[in-house]
Amino acid sequence: MADDEAGGEEYLFKVVLIGDSAVGKSNLLSRFARNEFDQNSKATIGVEFQTQAVEIDGKEVKAQIWDTAGQERFRAVTSAYYRGAVGALVVYDISRKTTFESVERWLNELTMHCDTAVAKMLVGNKCDLEDIRDVSIEDGKSLAEEKGLFFMETSALDATNVQEAFEVVIREIY
Ligand code: GTP
Ligand code: MG
Repeated sequence: MADDEAGGEEYLFKVVLIGDSAVGKSNLLSRFARNEFDQNSKATIGVEFQTQAVEIDGKEVKAQIWDTAGQERFRAVTSAYYRGAVGALVVYDISRKTTFESVERWLNELTMHCDTAVAKMLVGNKCDLEDIRDVSIEDGKSLAEEKGLFFMETSALDATNVQEAFEVVIREIY
């Protein structure tokens, strides 16, 4: 990460994306970092990350967002993925209840690998799919409350709340 160091920025925070396969983690990241969306994106294999600058209270904060596969067989070494993370977006797909039911498992894994306080946001993605909604906003909210997480519904497709979701987590860390 020589280019980050050379820039002399004061803050660089690691944020991880977790959640079942195909919930839209990679598209949330590409929407946030490049304002791009891919209708036919392939399942992530291994780990990818992007560094994105955000302005918080007039200061430039850099977030290094890590993205890995939801599918076990494509995942990177778990402990390395979580190491040093100070923020996490736990993503499910509002049109597939099974992905919401997996949230608890993802939270357990996160807790197991991060001993320090991690700012966590529960993200119900694909809120553009209202007509095939399978998880109510209320269920999302109450799970977030129960677990002490922030909560937002997002759409990587139409960009609803994507910037906001990342910014709330980054602001909390900062
Ligand atoms: P893995 O890498 O396998 O863990 O999946 P992922 O969570 O990274 O999902 P990905 O971003 O690849 O998206 C999966 C599929 O959902 C793709 O076909 C995307 O185009 C679609 N998708 C992602 N976000 C949205 C969204 O907000 N709305 C809709 N309608 N589709 C989305
Ligand atoms: Mg992916």
